Amino acid sequence: MSIGLAPMEGLIDHPLREILTAQGGYDYCVTEFIRVVDQLLPEHVFLRSCPELRQGGKTLTGTQVHVQLLGSDLSAMADNACRAIELGAPAISLNFGCPAKGTNLRQGGAVLLKEPDRIYQIVNAVKNALPVNTLLTAKMRLGYEDDSLAMDNALAIEAAGANNLTVHARTKKQGYKPPAHWHLIKPIADTLNIPVIANGDIFTVHDYHACKLASGCEHVMLGRGAVSVPDLAKQICDETHTPLTWPQVQALLLNYLQQLLLVTAEKYAVARFKQWLNYLAKDFAEAQVCFDEVKRFKQSIQVTQYFSKANSQPLEINPHPPG
Ligand SMILES: Cc1cc2nc3c(=O)[nH]c(=O)nc-3n(C[C@H](O)[C@H](O)[C@H](O)COP(=O)(O)O)c2cc1C
Repeated sequence: MSIGLAPMEGLIDHPLREILTAQGGYDYCVTEFIRVVDQLLPEHVFLRSCPELRQGGKTLTGTQVHVQLLGSDLSAMADNACRAIELGAPAISLNFGCPAKGTNLRQGGAVLLKEPDRIYQIVNAVKNALPVNTLLTAKMRLGYEDDSLAMDNALAIEAAGANNLTVHARTKKQGYKPPAHWHLIKPIADTLNIPVIANGDIFTVHDYHACKLASGCEHVMLGRGAVSVPDLAKQICDETHTPLTWPQVQALLLNYLQQLLLVTAEKYAVARFKQWLNYLAKDFAEAQVCFDEVKRFKQSIQVTQYFSKANSQPLEINPHPPG
């Protein structure tokens, strides 16, 4: 059994990867996608998405960070995959799931799922260019408009030489609309010889077991659930683990702000902080109370002052939260 921390562009950045993987339970994580057009990208682009390349391609607590590429130009994808490996990436992940309109118009992401042969060519071009034994992974949705080509795409990815395949159990058309169709991963997992990793809508330990049963997959990847419940992977793989309390989560959150301030402008740091707080509000009632106050702040000092004040007096939690 393995648990991966999903790539999430604009959400799971380097500081958040450090914090989430430090909670334990993750076997690897994946960077936000790096867009490849038609040329070799400069080193700083890789280092911006994956600063962990400076520390051997691992987080500080030793979790491998796979570098994700998105694109369809065969030689550019191959060249950039090799560059990422030269820079120290332990593995390459290829993105065949991004639903963004602009990305799809430029022949990247989920739109490629309409053409299994093209997916084969991309994976194969990267595989052939990489040093032997380099871990090459792919991540796909069930399809674009519908799931009729799901098996063809999965077989193409395997035949082209990927070492494993993550399947987000929705089509592009389904966006993020619940539910994730875990049972539609099962025929793929039953047919492929490479490991298939189930992804989509695992928000609790119960969801993990339900997904495992429906998809037949031992391996899962956690996205939004990992952001809402920072120790979800640990909860899944260690029954004896006591879930984090709000004060513990709050300490992680404030640490996130400090880490962000070291690497980005204050307004972005505060925006990212608020974004995580909002995700945490899905699971922690206290986070919702804090978010309602903090959402109007623009400066980090306002945030830290609010939290030190909130900690000196108990938060008033609405006993009847909306929804
Ligand atoms: C904000 C956001 C950004 C995402 N960015 C990426 C990305 O860069 N690469 C990718 O393969 N998937 C990306 N995804 C998809 C997730 O990795 C995952 O497949 C999806 O959220 C379903 O899993 P979940 O229900 O556990 O979140 C993104 C999803 C969201 C919500």
